[in-house]
Amino acid sequence: MDFCLSPKHAARQIEFREFADRELQPAGHTFPRDNLRKMAGRGYMGLPVPREWGGQGEDFFTYILLIEEISRICASTGVILAVHTSVGTFPLLYYGTQAQKERYLPGLARGELLGAFALSEAGAGSDAAALRTSARRIEEGYCINGGKVFITSGGEADLYTVFATLDQSLGSRGICAFLIEKGTPGLTVAPPEKKMGLHGSATTELQFTDLVVGADQLLGEEGKGFALAMSLLDGGRIGIAAQGLGLARASLEATAAYLASRLEKGDQVSQWARFTLADLFSRLEAARLLTYRAALLKEKGQPCSREAAMAKCFATDLAVEAAIRCIDLWPPDEYEGEYPLFRYFCDAKVTQIYEGTNQIQRLVISRDVLKTFHK
Ligand code: CAA
Repeated sequence: MDFCLSPKHAARQIEFREFADRELQPAGHTFPRDNLRKMAGRGYMGLPVPREWGGQGEDFFTYILLIEEISRICASTGVILAVHTSVGTFPLLYYGTQAQKERYLPGLARGELLGAFALSEAGAGSDAAALRTSARRIEEGYCINGGKVFITSGGEADLYTVFATLDQSLGSRGICAFLIEKGTPGLTVAPPEKKMGLHGSATTELQFTDLVVGADQLLGEEGKGFALAMSLLDGGRIGIAAQGLGLARASLEATAAYLASRLEKGDQVSQWARFTLADLFSRLEAARLLTYRAALLKEKGQPCSREAAMAKCFATDLAVEAAIRCIDLWPPDEYEGEYPLFRYFCDAKVTQIYEGTNQIQRLVISRDVLKTFHK
C-alpha cells in the first residue's frame, strides 16, 4: 500500500496546476470557451480516452487530478469538463457500437465536440427511474417526446446522452439511452437558468417534440438505459468529488495565505483561526484519500458505488463548509466587491446537489452498508 502519488502522477499534477494557474481565468457569467479551447489544445478534453480514439490514453486517476486543479481556478470549467468526460464521452467509450464510436468519440476526445447528459426531469430528479420522457418505436427508429431540466452545457453541447422510457410501467427496466445531436429537429433548448453560482456553466431545460432518431442512435440495449446511467454516475460522482477538492482548496489556500501574510506583518492570528485551519486542512486530506481510493477502484474496474458516493458526499460537504468557515477568518471589509470566498461558496453549494444530491449519496452508502450486514 502506498499513499503517495507515483512519480508520473505527481508530475502530471504539477503540470495541471501550473497550466490552470497560468492559462485559465475564472469564467464570470460567460460560457468559458476560451478555457475549453486551451484545455483541448493540451488534450485535456479527452485525457482518459484511449489514443486510438483521439484521446491521451491516461488513466482515470490522472483525469481526477486534472478536475481538481481546473476546479481550484474555475469550478464552472471544472463541471463542464467533468460532465463532458464522465457522462458525455464515457457513454460512447463503454457502451457505443463501433459505428457510434467512429462517429463521435474522436471529436469528443479532441474537444471539437462537447458532450452532455440528460437524465433529470421536473418530476424525476432524485427518483431518476420515474422519468416520463417517452420513446416510441417507429419505422425510422424512435420518436421521443418529453422534457429535461438542469442540463449542464445545455445549448452549448454538441451531443446529448438522453434517457427516455419505452414503457413507464416497466419502471427502470423500460428506460433506454439515446444519442441526440444538437440541432436535431424537435429539440429545443431553453435559455440558461439564473443560478446562485457556477455562472459560467450553462444549465438549461431541453424539450423533445416528436423528435425522430434512427435506431443506430440507441446507446446500449433497450431497457438497459437506467443501469447504464447509474454506472456512469458512479464515475461521474468521483469527478464531482474532485471538483469539491478543488473548491475546498481554493478557500483554504486563499485563507492560509492571507493569515500567513498577517503574521509576516507582525499581526496576531488567533488560536480559533489556527484551529479552524487545522480542522479543515485535516478534512481536506481525508476527502482526498476517499476520492483517490474511489478513483483507483474505478480504474481497476472494481465496484465503487459506495466509495464514489462517500467521496462525493464528503468532499462536496467540505467544499461548502470550508468556504463558510473561511469567510469568518477574513476582515469585514473583505465582504465588499469581488470577494473570492463568496464565489467559492456560491460555486460549491450546487456540488452537494448535482450528480445525485448528498442525501441520495447517503442512501447509496447506507443501502450498501445494510446489504453487507444483512444475514
Ligand atoms: N451500476 C449499475 N447498475 C445499477 C447501479 C450502478 N451503480 N445502481 C443501480 N443499478 C441497477 C440495479 O442493479 C437495478 O437493476 P435491475 O433492475 O436489473 O435489478 C436497477 O439499476 C434499478 O436499481 P435500484 O432499484 O437501486 O434503483 P432505484 O430506483 O431505487 O434508484 C437511486 C436508485 C440511487 C436513488 C437512483 O435513482 C439515483 O442515483 N438517483 C439520483 C439521480 C442522479 O444522480 N441524477 C444526476 C443527474 S446528472 C447530473 O447531475 C450531471 C450534471 O449536470 C452535473
